[in-house]
Amino acid sequence: MNNNSIIVPGSLILITGGAGFIGSHTCDALLERGYRVRIMDLLDPQVHGPGRKLPAWIDRRVEFMRGDVRNRDDLSRAIAGVDAIYHFAAQTGVGQSMYEIHGYCDVNVGGTAMLLDVLANSDHRVAKIVLSSSRAVYGEGAYSCPACGPVFPPLRGREALEKSEWRIFCPSCGAPLESLPTAEGKPLAPISVYAETKRVQEELLRIFSATYGIPGVVLRYFNVYGTRQALGNPYTGIGAIFVTRRLSGSPISIYEDGLQGRDFVNVRDVVRANLLALTHETSGSETFNVGSGERLTVLDLARHVCRELGATEEFLYQGQFRVGDIRDCFADLGKSRSGLGYEPAVPFAAGVAELVSWARGEQRDDRLEEAESALRLHNLM
Ligand SMILES: NC(=O)c1ccc[n+]([C@@H]2O[C@H](COP(=O)([O-])OP(=O)(O)OC[C@H]3O[C@@H](n4cnc5c(N)ncnc54)[C@H](O)[C@@H]3O)[C@@H](O)[C@H]2O)c1
Ligand SMILES: [Zn+2]
Repeated sequence: MNNNSIIVPGSLILITGGAGFIGSHTCDALLERGYRVRIMDLLDPQVHGPGRKLPAWIDRRVEFMRGDVRNRDDLSRAIAGVDAIYHFAAQTGVGQSMYEIHGYCDVNVGGTAMLLDVLANSDHRVAKIVLSSSRAVYGEGAYSCPACGPVFPPLRGREALEKSEWRIFCPSCGAPLESLPTAEGKPLAPISVYAETKRVQEELLRIFSATYGIPGVVLRYFNVYGTRQALGNPYTGIGAIFVTRRLSGSPISIYEDGLQGRDFVNVRDVVRANLLALTHETSGSETFNVGSGERLTVLDLARHVCRELGATEEFLYQGQFRVGDIRDCFADLGKSRSGLGYEPAVPFAAGVAELVSWARGEQRDDRLEEAESALRLHNLM
């Protein structure tokens, strides 16, 4: 077994789901630094369109394998000669996971289980696994009560949301709460099937790392945005959805009052964290937040998108809400800074400008209404 957890240039890196948004950017950064890259990806039509074509931006130096993380033979071939793995392949829509429950568990939990099972039962040289987890595992973020101090409130009730009461209150004294940065130690409270699959992925990797001595790095990404995010996938990616809406001349639907707090992190910062995880020296498994560390609102994002597009601010407020949406969550980066050396560097305005100018040149397919009607059909909106 290889115990050196620092993966050096020249090593062969496998990225499952590497044809996707975060994977493809990670792939470019790895090649630039002299790593060799193999991608295994199913080319899911929800992300890559009905033609299931490999995106044009995937570098020719990459070894591409079409394969499914649920398939033992595909994974056995994919891990041959590999020094480290980024495990990114997943179904990623929070709302969609609430009615495609089996599909989400099958790919996210089953696929991770299959990957670790194949590693446990074959000769290989994999010396590190980096897992893309999500801030979704936290549920609501951390808050502070003026009377009681720091609190971790439960999810808002449907009754309150139906009365358009969007704020969040102290579970002990009832005072309105203010949000705080959320650190890795916050008790996990997944509130969607997607979030639960991410939590199970983390736990499987933690147990596997402890058992087999192969270091695992869990990265909890916040709301990632940037170029190459699938513009035709209405089930995830609020940045891509807003840009697609406004570019096709439709108003942007704002759920709740638009003042939900989110942490929008540019994909280039996420890639930086991914690379740091590869050279991070660790013997067991470790978990780090990957965000911007800044609380912005959904409305801030919508406004920036319109400004960059030179479009009028056409927002649709219908008092709509999605069951299971949290009010606020943004990253505490203390541990990522000290443990990983991570520091976000892309200013929000510059990141949104980059996303918008890229999206203008892309083919877009605005399917948001389809995604919203599926939620309504299941009484989730
Ligand atoms: N984008 C975000 O804001 C965000 C936030 C938190 C966590 N994450 C996680 O980061 C990872 C990458 O997300 P992304 O935004 O790049 O998504 P993406 O949809 O662009 O990429 C995922 C890739 O996985 C592939 N895939 C899906 N099912 C597969 C299967 N069964 N076998 C092989 N490949 C399969 C898809 O074809 C796609 O190319 C995911 O695990 C996601 O849960 C993303
Ligand atoms: Zn209180």
